[in-house]
Amino acid sequence: MAEKTFKYVILGGGVAAGYAAREFAKQGVRPGELAIISKEAVAPYERPALSKAYLFPEGTARLPGFHVCVGSGGERLLPEWYKEKGIELILSTEIVKADLASKTLVSAAGEVFKYHILIVATGSTVFRLTDFGVQGADSKNILYLREIDDADKLVEAIKAKKNGKAVIVGGGYIGLELSAALRINNFDVTMVFPEPWCMPRLFTADIAAFYESYYTDKGIKIIKGTVAVGFAADANGEVKEVKLKDGRSLEADLVVVGVGGKPLTTLFKGQVEEEKGGIKTDAFFKTSVPDVYAVGDVVTFPLKMYNDLTRVEHVDHARKSAEQAVKAIFASEQGKAVEEYDYLPYCLSRAFDLSWQLYGDNVGDTVIFGDNNLTSAKPKFGSYWIKDGKIVGAFLEGGSPDENKAIAKVAKTQPSVNNVEVLTKEGLSFACKI
Ligand code: FDA
Ligand code: NAD
Repeated sequence: MAEKTFKYVILGGGVAAGYAAREFAKQGVRPGELAIISKEAVAPYERPALSKAYLFPEGTARLPGFHVCVGSGGERLLPEWYKEKGIELILSTEIVKADLASKTLVSAAGEVFKYHILIVATGSTVFRLTDFGVQGADSKNILYLREIDDADKLVEAIKAKKNGKAVIVGGGYIGLELSAALRINNFDVTMVFPEPWCMPRLFTADIAAFYESYYTDKGIKIIKGTVAVGFAADANGEVKEVKLKDGRSLEADLVVVGVGGKPLTTLFKGQVEEEKGGIKTDAFFKTSVPDVYAVGDVVTFPLKMYNDLTRVEHVDHARKSAEQAVKAIFASEQGKAVEEYDYLPYCLSRAFDLSWQLYGDNVGDTVIFGDNNLTSAKPKFGSYWIKDGKIVGAFLEGGSPDENKAIAKVAKTQPSVNNVEVLTKEGLSFACKI
């Protein structure tokens, strides 16, 4: 088999890879120096579109419309862009072996790739109910969502089971976004999750209550405090029924499972230092192995403002970590230095007419403010998290770009709180004054 050598290889072709490629071009990478190897068949794209407009019956998003870097307002990098820059896109190519000592990657088809500098950008994969031995979990139309192929299967199933019954297993991001997408497609939707309220990792009970009421008003049924323990299929092997631990059972033509993800580190096990489930890096995304960097979902990195090590599974960090790593690579080649990565945690979600953003840390006491009345034309409400007398996190539903910037600033600057009642009354205007 042929062997190819590149100065730089990005392993993975997702969000981080795309933003890294743009930064390589900015830094003046020369034709032939950089390759992106991806098991997906398409050039890097903005993954968040898959759980939103990709599934909508109207205003549907399709490639090439959402290739990176449109998600952050940048120029769209079409496959031709990579060609013009002399960046090799090696698609539909899964790397099955990585030997960091000899700087060699081997694909499923046996191709060998050598590199001088490697950037690992393999992202995450989903937990599957078959991994936990759930009975009948391999039935047809039990679907997951991570890559564009998964989204295409979902689109097919939505067409095939038109106006049918959908059960969504999981109450996190996928649970909330996919319940909305299927309801918009006129499915009869039931969500099932084990916790007392949705998005429990981020939301307080107060915040969750608003979204649950909104979803219920849209006709989505929510079953909490139990899990799916089995599935029954028809004679074609297609799912028909979801059995719950509490003894209930639900009819289903389609099941979407979103029970969390895990970083794809398996290729590097035993070769590189790991921490908290991810590949450990410094503030320049250098791993413990010389000439190997890692970015995006897969890394555990120093979160400077909290003096902590963390992993972040969100698009903003995928973009920024990729840019930081490429800047650091070029700086070190020129004997220069770049500033340490100083990240403010940030996540967001959109569903129906709703859109929220959360900045900083969701620890400590909370206050809720604003209008969370479902009957309002445009509810706008938020929450602050207060720890040791300072605001450390801020959440806002329905904010304008300027208002979202204001809550970001609060989470970053961590102002002291003298009077919680005044803060509750001032609400968003407190942030806008900072
Ligand atoms: P990403 O998963 O984007 O890319 C990894 C790439 O590596 C893939 O192309 C994969 O095929 C490839 N790969 C892996 N192993 C390989 C191998 N062995 N050989 C070759 N290729 C390999 N975040 C957010 O902030 N807001 C949002 O609204 C959303 N919405 C959203 C929707 C959906 C459906 C998902 C699945 C995720 C989100 N996210 C999100 C999360 C966000 O998309 C995620 O954090 C980034 O995509 C992470 O970027 P990475 O480049 O690290 O991984
Ligand atoms: P998640 O961690 O957000 O949610 C997982 C949920 O699974 C938990 O909240 C829990 O309710 C549920 N759960 C766990 N075990 C269960 C079981 N046995 N039965 C039923 N429910 C169970 O993960 P996700 O929603 O699967 O998302 C996967 C990945 O995609 C994450 O990395 C996430 O960040 C990313 N994503 C992000 C966005 C966004 O940022 N807007 C949108 C979609 C996906």
